[in-house]
Amino acid sequence: MTTAGTPALQTADPQQIELPEWWRQAVVYQVYPRSFADADGDGIGDLPGILSRIDHLRELGVDAVWLSPFYPSELADGGYDVADYRDVDPRLGTLEDFDRLVDALHAAGIRIVVDIVPNHTSDQHAWFQEALAAGRGSAARERYIFRDGTGPDGSEPPTDWVSVFGGPAWERVADGQWYFHNFAVEQPDLNWDNPEVRADFVRTLRFWADRGVDGFRIDVAHMLTKDLTEPLPSRAELESLPRDGHHPLIDRDDVHEVYAEWRAVFDSYDPPRAAVAEAWVDPARIPLYARAESLGQAFNFDLLEADFNAGQFSRIVGSNLLLAAESGSSTTWVLSNHDVVRHATRYGLPDAERGEDGRPVRKHGNEWLLSGGTTPQLDRARGLRRARAASLFVLGLPGSAYIYQGEELGLHEVAEIPDAQRQDPTFFRSPGEDMGRDGCRVPLPWSADEPFFGFGSGAPHLPQPSWFAEASASAQAGDPTSTLTLYRDALALRRRLQTAETLEWIETGREDVLRFRRPSGWTVITNFGTEPFDLPEGAAPVLTSAPLDGGRLPGEATAWFDAL
Ligand code: NOJ
Repeated sequence: MTTAGTPALQTADPQQIELPEWWRQAVVYQVYPRSFADADGDGIGDLPGILSRIDHLRELGVDAVWLSPFYPSELADGGYDVADYRDVDPRLGTLEDFDRLVDALHAAGIRIVVDIVPNHTSDQHAWFQEALAAGRGSAARERYIFRDGTGPDGSEPPTDWVSVFGGPAWERVADGQWYFHNFAVEQPDLNWDNPEVRADFVRTLRFWADRGVDGFRIDVAHMLTKDLTEPLPSRAELESLPRDGHHPLIDRDDVHEVYAEWRAVFDSYDPPRAAVAEAWVDPARIPLYARAESLGQAFNFDLLEADFNAGQFSRIVGSNLLLAAESGSSTTWVLSNHDVVRHATRYGLPDAERGEDGRPVRKHGNEWLLSGGTTPQLDRARGLRRARAASLFVLGLPGSAYIYQGEELGLHEVAEIPDAQRQDPTFFRSPGEDMGRDGCRVPLPWSADEPFFGFGSGAPHLPQPSWFAEASASAQAGDPTSTLTLYRDALALRRRLQTAETLEWIETGREDVLRFRRPSGWTVITNFGTEPFDLPEGAAPVLTSAPLDGGRLPGEATAWFDAL
């Protein structure tokens, strides 16, 4: 048994790189490039920085890296406002740096997935600049969604719709027309009825696939196509319409015509390129995106909204395995990403307040962020203890696991960011209500005693808190009890124990303790409660998230057994 401490260096089997369905049970590590590692000292993480940290990824034992956008961008939305889909932001490097990174990752047995943002461009994109200059009625405006305003002089927006980031979803341009933006003002939505738009994204997919990219993460995959036939509904009407495939803006059936065309592109490569949909849709409609004829896999975000609770976790696992079976894909597990409060922090706060539908009524952790991290008190130790248990639970499940940079260090959300240094548009568009997502995007702590915790030689673009020293990778590397060692051990064991994509629940006699067994015998027991749980006689775990208490699994802990 190890709570950690086994030699973790994992060299991938080079033959694995050729497996066509490598993604089915892969561990995919999300890199948010501007906050991962900064090689040139300008305070912004870059591609050479990622290259310099490949050993960390190899020693961690991940199967693939997903890069959030690294394209030229004015950073109105953390890079999800793309000014050129087929280039690298000069602050982050060059296309040659990208090629070097792909080669180095592949040499380390790690695949690479890039982010495609097809719903909107940046307002700095050449197409949008052309649309502004060309004026109303032009072909350039047809690539976006331009409309005349309402009211006697057209000075009112076409509708009262609101954007996802808050505020009106229409913006007026100099000649009086309005353009539609689902997200920030700087992110005009593309018109997916326009064949030129469709052709250009096929070109972009091929551009990156030809450079050796193994897969794509598709941003807001459920929003591309729209039915904007006049008269347009009001906001209230829009919100009351069912999301059954015919809603004017969200999760329309016809978006899969786009993905059928993309699928032909993916399948023209050997091995076929993979794709995963970011689709916030009714769970029953997830299989439409995860089908082999469409994108092939879809994110399951249910755990982002769950408390550390056995009933919630088991329902989520059960329903998502059924959805995966329905589509023929594998499911995905996500505890943290660049859009949510980190799970070590969520689990250290009181449970989320829930509405009648069981969903959180507001973003979990936001009130704590609003208080600058003081109210209500965060129980950091408990949050981390539960995060370790939840991560080990998830890493034992069938399907692929997505890890967000820094969760392998057990990082907490950073609350202490002065307002003047915040960057996220959700903060600026909803002053005082939503603190936004900067707290999970603070540049990583690599070392306890180097300037800026080893992130780079210049002041990072978001400030790092002093507690990053003890959370840094160097502080954890040799420590058998650290979260970094736990993740390394878990990923190494997962490779050895990996088996068919099913599980069997085993009764534990306790509502707050879950036990499941994979076909090979690999067994996971998680105690979501606080009372220790008596393990079966003679059971010897191969890994635990916390030391055993005699023959008992302590509260808020997980144990793995190679056979039980
Ligand atoms: C989803 C991305 O994850 C998020 O970061 C971004 O703000 C929106 N899509 C808009 O692109």
